[in-house]
Amino acid sequence: ADSYDEECDYLFKAVLIGDSGVGKSNLLSRFAKDEFRLDSKPTIGVEFAYRNVKIGDRVIKAQIWDTAGQERFRAITSSYYRGALGALLVYDITRRTTFQNVKKWIHELREFGNLEMVIVLVGNKSDLSESRQVSEEEGKKIAEMEGLFFMETSALRNLNVEEAFLRMINKIH
Ligand code: GTP
Ligand code: MG
Repeated sequence: ADSYDEECDYLFKAVLIGDSGVGKSNLLSRFAKDEFRLDSKPTIGVEFAYRNVKIGDRVIKAQIWDTAGQERFRAITSSYYRGALGALLVYDITRRTTFQNVKKWIHELREFGNLEMVIVLVGNKSDLSESRQVSEEEGKKIAEMEGLFFMETSALRNLNVEEAFLRMINKIH
């Protein structure tokens, strides 16, 4: 067995989805490495990051997949979702179009994802309140209607990032 298989009691896969530029890669680098980049480039293909999380007396290894929001840079959709138990569906609170597209992403999740998948809807960039285009109430409302969990986050300020990932991980186990 790989050494990391022996270090943890459980390995699971989760995915990040949402429009380009909403901050998926920065949420992941904040969660996995406590890093943030203002000048990050659009993701091409698929990237991964891992983080061990202790829940009770078990160590869970979360393997988080991150792909491009831009269609032309995306990996094959079915393999991206295969085996995923959780998803963070991210929009940008300062760009309404990314919120309008949440419906499209939910559709894709329901088509390709596991029916039991734990989904957290994430309104990112809460630090930019002066350019907000989507209220927290609107986010909550659609999450409630669709049966998703909901949080607003800031990858830049490191607000609620850990909480969003942990909520997903805790609901899976
Ligand atoms: P794709 O890979 O193209 O799908 O984009 P992405 O969703 O991975 O977005 P990415 O993480 O690359 O972030 C896009 C831009 O938003 C970058 O300039 C980030 O620095 C910025 N950004 C990400 N999160 C935040 C945040 O919480 N607050 C602010 N102010 N900017 C952020
Ligand atoms: Mg990215």
